[in-house]
Amino acid sequence: MKMKQFNLLPLFLILITSFSSANSTIVSHDERAITIDGQRRILISGSIHYPRSTSDMWPDLINKAKDGGLDTIETYVFWNAHEPARRQYDFSGNLDLVRFIKTIQSAGLYSVLRIGPYVCAEWNYGGFPVWLHNMPDMKFRTINPSFMNEMQNFTTKIVNMMKEESLFASQGGPIILAQIENEYGNVISSYGAEGKAYIDWCASMANSLDIGVPWIMCQQPHAPQPMIETCNGFYCDQYKPSNPSSPKMWTENWTGWFKNWGGKHPYRTAEDLAYSVARFFQTGGTFQNYYMYHGGTNFGRVAGGPYITTSYDYDAPLNEYGNLNQPKWGHLKQLHTLLKSMEKPLTYGNISTIDFGNSVTATVYTTNEKSSCFISNVNATADALVNFKGKDYNVPAWSVSVLPDCDKEAYNTARVNTQTSIMTEDSCAEPKKLKWTWRPEFTTQKTILKRSGDLISKGLVDQKDVTNDASDYLWYMTRVHLDKKDPIWSRNMSLRVHSNAHVLHAYVNGKYIGNQIVRDNKFDYRFEKKVNLVHGTNRLALLSVSVGLQNYGPFFESGPTGINGPVKLVGYKGEETIEKDLSKHQWDYKIGLHGFNHKLFSIKSAGRHQLKWSTDKLPADRMLSWYKANFEAPLGKDPVIVDLNGLGKGEVWINGQSIGRYWPSFNSSDDGCTDECDYRGEYGSDKCAFMCGKPTQRWYHVPRSFLNDKGHNTITLFEEMGGDPSNVKFKTVVTGTVCAKAHEHNEVELSCDNRPISAVKFASFGNPSGRCGSFAAGTCEGANDAAKIVAKECVGKLNCTMNVSSHKFGSTLDCGDAPKRLFVEVEC
Ligand code: GAL
Repeated sequence: MKMKQFNLLPLFLILITSFSSANSTIVSHDERAITIDGQRRILISGSIHYPRSTSDMWPDLINKAKDGGLDTIETYVFWNAHEPARRQYDFSGNLDLVRFIKTIQSAGLYSVLRIGPYVCAEWNYGGFPVWLHNMPDMKFRTINPSFMNEMQNFTTKIVNMMKEESLFASQGGPIILAQIENEYGNVISSYGAEGKAYIDWCASMANSLDIGVPWIMCQQPHAPQPMIETCNGFYCDQYKPSNPSSPKMWTENWTGWFKNWGGKHPYRTAEDLAYSVARFFQTGGTFQNYYMYHGGTNFGRVAGGPYITTSYDYDAPLNEYGNLNQPKWGHLKQLHTLLKSMEKPLTYGNISTIDFGNSVTATVYTTNEKSSCFISNVNATADALVNFKGKDYNVPAWSVSVLPDCDKEAYNTARVNTQTSIMTEDSCAEPKKLKWTWRPEFTTQKTILKRSGDLISKGLVDQKDVTNDASDYLWYMTRVHLDKKDPIWSRNMSLRVHSNAHVLHAYVNGKYIGNQIVRDNKFDYRFEKKVNLVHGTNRLALLSVSVGLQNYGPFFESGPTGINGPVKLVGYKGEETIEKDLSKHQWDYKIGLHGFNHKLFSIKSAGRHQLKWSTDKLPADRMLSWYKANFEAPLGKDPVIVDLNGLGKGEVWINGQSIGRYWPSFNSSDDGCTDECDYRGEYGSDKCAFMCGKPTQRWYHVPRSFLNDKGHNTITLFEEMGGDPSNVKFKTVVTGTVCAKAHEHNEVELSCDNRPISAVKFASFGNPSGRCGSFAAGTCEGANDAAKIVAKECVGKLNCTMNVSSHKFGSTLDCGDAPKRLFVEVEC
C-alpha cells in the first residue's frame, strides 16, 4: 500500500505541471481588448489559406507576414479537402494543417483557427463535402441531427488533432482563438426559429470541446455566450459589438476582392486599406485581420462561386505568387509599427475626442506615461487644415493622421512613401516553343451516339446529386422516336433546354449543335438551337459542365446544378408552336469524361496511353481534346507562371498535379474600369476595377514544388472549348520597374526584391507629377541632380534607402510652401 502511494505522487505532480506549463498562454478578453497573459493587446492578423499555396511556400509567406508587422495568421479549415469521402481523411502535403500551424509557431506568431466548418471563402461548396448533401434527410446549417452529427464529428476531429500536438495557446501553442460557423448572422433569419436553436447548439458544442482559448463567431450579432462576435467588411470603424462586454474585433478586412470568370480585376488602394485600419484602431479596435493577406491559387477544382477564377490573388498585400504587393505591403507595415508603439495607451488609456466639424475628429488616448492621437478626416472630398494642441495639421480627405506622441504626425494613410513595384514576366530567357502531342477525348462519339452511361433514370437529375462532384462533367443522354406523323414536324425545329449548367454543350444525332455559357451571373437560362431531326430514332446528348459549386447564401447547398429542364423539342409552324417535352423520358447519365477517368494527365498513366498521343496535325480549334508537351523548368527561384493565351477553357496539369481550371478565352466586359483610382470615398468590390475587355485570367501559377529542376516536366491540357496551344509559354515573374512618390521629411526605400537596381529612369524632387511610367518634372526642382543622386545610391544594389529632404536634393526655388515630393522610377 505504502509503495503505491509513493508512486502515485510524482505522477500527480507531473499532471499538474503539464496543465500549468510555463509555456501556456492565457487568452481572455474584456470589453476593451483581447488580453494575452493579462496584457491588453492590439493584434494585427492576416489570412493565409494553407491549401491555396504549397507547403514549401509557407515559411516564406509567414516570414513576410511577420516582417510586414503581423502578430497572427488566420486560416480556415477546409472540410471537403480533409474528408473527401465520409470518414476518410487527408492531411497530407498542402493539407498538412498541423505542419502549417507549427510553421506559424516557429515564426513566433499566433494563429486564429477558423474551423467553420462552413467557411464560404469562394471555396467549392463553401467547404462542405458534397457527400454530406447526398446523405439521407440532410439539411445544412440548421437543427438537423445528421448535419449536426457530421459537423460535430469533423470539428472534434480538428480540435483533437490540435490538442494532440499541443497547439492551443492554453497548451503552449500558437492558437489564440478559434472560430465556429461563419457569418451565420447574415442568413439566420431565413432559418426561422431553428436558426437560433442551431447557433445556440454550435456555441455549446464548440464550448464543450474545451480548447482553453476563446471562440469567436463572425457576423453574429448577439452571439450566444461565451462566443465573441466579430465584424467582417471593408470598414468596421462604425461597428459596435452588441454585447457590451465583447471587445471590438474585425475578422475580415477585405484587402481587395475575388474575381469571377468574365469579371474585372479588383483593386483596392493602399491608402484606403490603411485608412480603414487606422479608423478601426482610432475607434477602439483590438484585433484586425486582413482577408486575405495572401490569397494564392485555387488549385485543382477547389474554386467555388460558381465561377471563381483559379487565381485567388485578391489584391492582397502578398500577391498570388508570394511576392510583396507594393505599395500595399509596405504602407501597412509602417502603420502596424506605429500602432504597436501605441498599444498601451490604445488599450488602457482614457479616451477623449475632439470634433472639428465637417467629419474631422481627433481622438486622444492617454495613460500616465504616454498619450497617442489620431486625427481623421472622413470627408470624401474636402481636405482639412486643423489646429490641434497648438499645431497645424493638414489632413487630406478620407485619411487618418497618426501621432504616436500626440505632437507630430508620424504617418498619414493617404501619404504613401512606399515604392510601387510593377511585376513583369521575365523576358531575359525567351522560352522555347513547346512540341505538342494530342489526342481526342477518345470515346466521345461512342458516348454521344451509343449512350454508354453509368446510370439510367426516368427524368432529369440534379448534377451534384449524381456526380457527388467527383467531376465537372456530366452527360445527359436520351433518345426520341419521331415517326412521320408526329405533329412536331416542321421546317423550323429546335432543341430548347432550360439549364443551370454553367456550360452546356449540345449534340443531336452525334452532331455538335452549339453551346451556351453563363454570363453576367445569369445561372438560370434557356438554350435554344435549330436542329435537324430524322424520322425514326434521334439521339440527344447534352454535356453539362460545372465551374465550381455555390458557396454562399441561405440554403445554397440545395441550389440547382446541371440541367434541371424542361428539355423540349419545338416545332414552329407559322403562328403555331408545338412542343414535345422530353424531361420525363428515360435519360442515361455518364459521369465525367473518359480522359479524366483514365487519368490522361497522370505521369504514371503516360506510358500506357503513349501510342495514342499523336504528333500529327495538331488541331488548333478542336473541342474536347487533350494536349501534352515536355518542357524545361525556368531556372532560379522566381515564381513560375504559364501563359495560356490562345486556349479556350479546360484544366491544366503539371507533372500530373492540377494547377486549376483555365479559361483565357473568356474576356471581362468592356466597361466599368478606371485608369485612375480615387482612394477617397467608400470602397466597394466594383470600384477601381481594371483589365476590362481582357482575358479574365491569362497567367496561371505553377508552384516550384510541382516542377523537376532537372530532367523533363510535362504539361497536360484538357481543352473543352477548342483553342490553340502553340503560344503556351512558361515564364518567371519578377519585379520589372519600381516607382516611388515619397513625401519630404520621410525616408524612401527602393528595392527590386532579389535583383539589383539597374538604372534610374526618372527622378525629380519638387512638384513633379504623373503616374509611374510617365512621371514629369514640375515647375520647381531641387538644385541638385536627383537622377544622379539616386543612381549613385541605388544602381547595382539590391536596395537603397534615402532621406527625402532639401538637404539631400537641394533647395527648391519657386515651390513656395507646398510640400515637396521625390518622384523616382528605377528599372530592375
Ligand atoms: C465573407 C466570407 C469569406 C469570404 C468573403 C469574401 O463573407 O466570410 O469567407 O467569402 O466574404 O471574399
